[in-house]
Amino acid sequence: TVADLKGVKEGKLCLTVVTTGKYFIPRLLGSFCQLYPHIDVSLQVTNHQQIHERMLENKDDLYILSKPPEDVDLERHIFLDNPLVVVAPRNHILSNKKNISLKELESFPFILREVGSNTRNVIQQIFDDHKLNIRVRLELGSNEAIKQAIIGGLGLSVLSKHTLTSSCYDELSILDVKNFPVQESWYVTYLSGKKLSVVARTFLEYLLKESINYTADKQLTLAHNHG
Ligand code: PGA
Repeated sequence: TVADLKGVKEGKLCLTVVTTGKYFIPRLLGSFCQLYPHIDVSLQVTNHQQIHERMLENKDDLYILSKPPEDVDLERHIFLDNPLVVVAPRNHILSNKKNISLKELESFPFILREVGSNTRNVIQQIFDDHKLNIRVRLELGSNEAIKQAIIGGLGLSVLSKHTLTSSCYDELSILDVKNFPVQESWYVTYLSGKKLSVVARTFLEYLLKESINYTADKQLTLAHNHG
């Protein structure tokens, strides 16, 4: 467009992020849009399977996720940690225990995300690898709902540490389980053949530069200090 040629940053940015991205991408977009007030943003938040489908349909400029699909030709940049941890209610009997084995978790009910969620796949895979059964009591399609269900005593779950930065952190504890945290990372990706607009490229560069301020532990410390 003419705007592109003049180097004026205006136009539309289409982003899709996995569920856990909603804990920091909107804030990052806030500061980005202050710098570039003429950019409009469309942000979708969904799980891995649905991001995969959007990629196949070339729906967005950029996709943010932790497990880029192998059957799509993508440019990818790692930009942040995404540790997965086992979460229990604050006063759970395992809360103060050190070095809990996976086997010990077998007898506790779990809350899992919906099919199509990478978080769900990771935990299922770990239990399968150790030939252990996971007792699934409940399936929920939202990390927020899972946190509430944990507090309500319905079971344990595995969540990205980034989801623990908001309000109910004080009512939850992270269990010290062997094999955890699972160290995942976030990638920002785009289709290899795609020529990014000036706006998308500008956001990509901004994300790579600014994300260092958003590590899971930094967010958690902030949440904790603010009570
Ligand atoms: P999911 O991905 O929403 O597909 O579980 C979240 C993540 O990988 O952080």
